[in-house]
Amino acid sequence: MACHINAHASFNKDINMGSDYNIEEFIKTAEELAREAGVLVRDAYKKDKAVESKSCAVDLVTETDTKVEELLISRLRKKYPTHKFIGEESTVSGEPCLWTDDPTWIIDPVDGTMNFVHSFPFVGICIGLSIKKEIVGGVVYNPIYDEMFQAIKGKGAFCNNKPIKVSSQNDLKLSLFITEVGFNSQEMLDVKVANYKSLLEAGIRGFRSLGSAALNMCHIARGSAELYYEYGIHCWDMAAASIIVTEAGGVVMDTTGGPLDIMNRRCVAASSGSLVKEFTKHVKHLQLQRD
Ligand code: IPD
Repeated sequence: MACHINAHASFNKDINMGSDYNIEEFIKTAEELAREAGVLVRDAYKKDKAVESKSCAVDLVTETDTKVEELLISRLRKKYPTHKFIGEESTVSGEPCLWTDDPTWIIDPVDGTMNFVHSFPFVGICIGLSIKKEIVGGVVYNPIYDEMFQAIKGKGAFCNNKPIKVSSQNDLKLSLFITEVGFNSQEMLDVKVANYKSLLEAGIRGFRSLGSAALNMCHIARGSAELYYEYGIHCWDMAAASIIVTEAGGVVMDTTGGPLDIMNRRCVAASSGSLVKEFTKHVKHLQLQRD
């Protein structure tokens, strides 16, 4: 008998996961919620903010971070009661960061909190979804520029519904790099400075920093720079953006060049694996405590 494929159903179901999870619908919900949360962020963006420090003087939190995370988690939990959650602010307040095979929403309510505090316009609302510990979809929304980055496994990456793809440049000497300058230990500062020096001496075109790990990665996905690397970020900073990079044709790996482990607090996102290989020849690595 001829196998009749219902185009709509096959589009909506994730066949690769061998399950009936409707990932399209999950990510559509995430997108709607990110837009709703974006209104809260935009409203608070230009106003004075009450700011508190978390792990160190430059690790900040505002009431908007907390409000947005509460909004996202409460609404997702209501709609998908069996799903699990890892959220930046919930983890900081003591909830365990447990990553299981269950559908898990990995959330950074305001990635780029320091930018938000200073009204510097790169802030991202990040909602990633993993199933069986694989990231299957994600959204990163910058409410200030109204840019919605979105990807679903196997279906490409988009910004405001238009397909995006990584740069075709693979030559380290013709590449623009993105990384962040923050540090929380002398060792981290030393490694970061040594890596800047070594990469600049190797001839990269320059460094940029947007102040949001997720938006840095989205700028690799849209082809505005070739490689982003960072030590010290968390799973919620990279989960959603990682699939946006890979669906845009790029790679996301551990900074040593091995497979990415989102709990390992470091990552490199690039237009190609060969560029990562070149990068690894010039950098020292940092081992950090896992999420
Ligand atoms: C931070 C940003 C920043 C990165 C930090 C992150 P947050 O996230 O992504 O670019 O350098 O390591 O913690 O705290 O603003 O959500």
